[in-house]
Amino acid sequence: MKTAPRPASGKLLYAQSGGVTSVINASAAGVIEAARTHGVKVYAAHNGILGALREELIDTSKESKATIAALRHTPGGAFGSCRYKLKSLETHRAEYERLIEVLRAHDIRWFLYNGGNDSADTALKISQLGKAMGYDIRCIGVPKTVDNDLAMTDCCPGFGSVAKYIAVSTLEASLDVASMADTSTKVFILEVMGRHAGWIAAAAGLAGEGADAPPHVILFPENVFDEAAFLAKVKATVQRVGWCTVVASEGIRNAAGQFLAEAGTRDAFGHSQLGGVAPVLAALVKEKLGYKYHWALPDYLQRSARHLASKTDAEQAYAVGKAAVDYALAGKNAVMPVIVRSSDAPYRWKIEPAPLSKIANHEKKMPRNFMTRDGFGITAAARRYLAPLIQGELPPPYGKDGLPRYATLQNTMVAKKLPAFEI
Ligand code: F6P
Repeated sequence: MKTAPRPASGKLLYAQSGGVTSVINASAAGVIEAARTHGVKVYAAHNGILGALREELIDTSKESKATIAALRHTPGGAFGSCRYKLKSLETHRAEYERLIEVLRAHDIRWFLYNGGNDSADTALKISQLGKAMGYDIRCIGVPKTVDNDLAMTDCCPGFGSVAKYIAVSTLEASLDVASMADTSTKVFILEVMGRHAGWIAAAAGLAGEGADAPPHVILFPENVFDEAAFLAKVKATVQRVGWCTVVASEGIRNAAGQFLAEAGTRDAFGHSQLGGVAPVLAALVKEKLGYKYHWALPDYLQRSARHLASKTDAEQAYAVGKAAVDYALAGKNAVMPVIVRSSDAPYRWKIEPAPLSKIANHEKKMPRNFMTRDGFGITAAARRYLAPLIQGELPPPYGKDGLPRYATLQNTMVAKKLPAFEI
């Protein structure tokens, strides 16, 4: 890959984008600590790309070493995130010109955008814009998404921790259901995130192995929801095992292509807001099979559960942040540090640059050979892929009050140099 010499001076702008995770701040720590070693000042955009457009920049050099280190175990997005997609340069030139104006005004020479496939698209567009508008800016994408749907990378930082939370929760709730199934609840339904790709649902499969172990039914968004087959499987499981645990992706659709759980609202990327498939399924189970049920929607709990993070995931999140700085300072442009697996057991991985053009707007779905023939479970190949990603624990430090000691940032804003900009 061609690299250009490092600009003589300049600052690095880091921004978080899209749905946050329990380890995205570990990537921020990787970025800031690596940049500090090279003597490069890091600004963080407040609320992702919106902060860059509004010139709302945070000076991370005001934060202590200990605070930045504590980001490694702090969930959420420390600098604020957003869902905002830059449109094409042709139709929205004013936004791009504003971005360049802000970057130029603050002598920002490197832009690191921490997000999923939509954010990779934004980072790619800014790198193209730099060239088109004659401003020397290097853009690096930093991978993140609980959905695990980025192309080119073995997995996405954020996913391993959600996977661990969902596998553990499936196991624990199933022990609860099993205890009282004779006289009480027979069907437990857990709804998990994953709009178009069933990676999180698949991770629930790690809770047990074999036909009688939970989860007994997994509903993937890659498969059309078949009501009759679903009810038959639930009924057979209750008759055989005495109870049944179902894990359903929020993104499952019927034969007409409609989400079972569409809430009716859309975000700035045009995505439907999902949530509520579990009650739909529960009502079906009650009406057609007459079983007592409980359902749960962990929603944001799953992607913020830093207390149950995967050590592997937290380490990868930090490593991609650090690598992004190394790439940027080496002059690379329009790339993302991705995770490359060289062995399943023991899990061995390394980081390599991949072009943003091959990542932007692509969605990596669960391959067919990761799902059992009836489409309700995971195969040995899926287990081999998933198992290493939930390995290890790295709990946050706890205080005397029994609560985790998370980082509290000052988030000192940089003085504005430009007039306000209407978005
Ligand atoms: O970022 C991915 C994700 O966590 C999806 O799995 C989920 O559908 C979505 O974000 C929720 O987004 P929001 O918080 O914008 O409703």
